[in-house]
Amino acid sequence: MEDIKIDEIMDVVKDVVSDKEKCKGVLIPTLHRIQTENGYLPAAELEGLSGKISVPLAEIYSVASFYRQFHFNPRGKNIVRVCTGTACHVRGASKVLSAMEEEFGVKSGETTGDLKVTLETVGCVGCCGLAPVVTVNEDVVGTVGPKKLKGIIKAINEGEDHGQN
Ligand code: FES
Repeated sequence: MEDIKIDEIMDVVKDVVSDKEKCKGVLIPTLHRIQTENGYLPAAELEGLSGKISVPLAEIYSVASFYRQFHFNPRGKNIVRVCTGTACHVRGASKVLSAMEEEFGVKSGETTGDLKVTLETVGCVGCCGLAPVVTVNEDVVGTVGPKKLKGIIKAINEGEDHGQN
């Protein structure tokens, strides 16, 4: 078998991989960086990125939309997720969600105007035995009844620290 040197392989790769493909290769890590810096993906940043890496803006949105972790709007300081998986649903998740929506004046998927809360639902957070479950940033609160619900809301309104998302 012929002995192929790494430099020769790299030359072949360089020829095969176009500049456009190289630009696409930096897209995801760059989107992560933009989101880390801003908490979301501002439209102006995405437009700038499009020009810099010569990838159409529509394509950038298409790629970013595919991944759930990218957000196009500012996020709240507290990311509140109400689990609506089967176990939680059976144990009253819809009441918990309604109470949260009423308290913060937003629907699931929305953020309060003061950026205090982003309210979301989630399929299952993996602790069904504690249903119904709510997460606030990194904190998991199980067996959420009226008393715990009041406690969660009070803690958020009083600005108590929760692990950031
Ligand atoms: S269904 Fe809610 S934790 Fe599994």
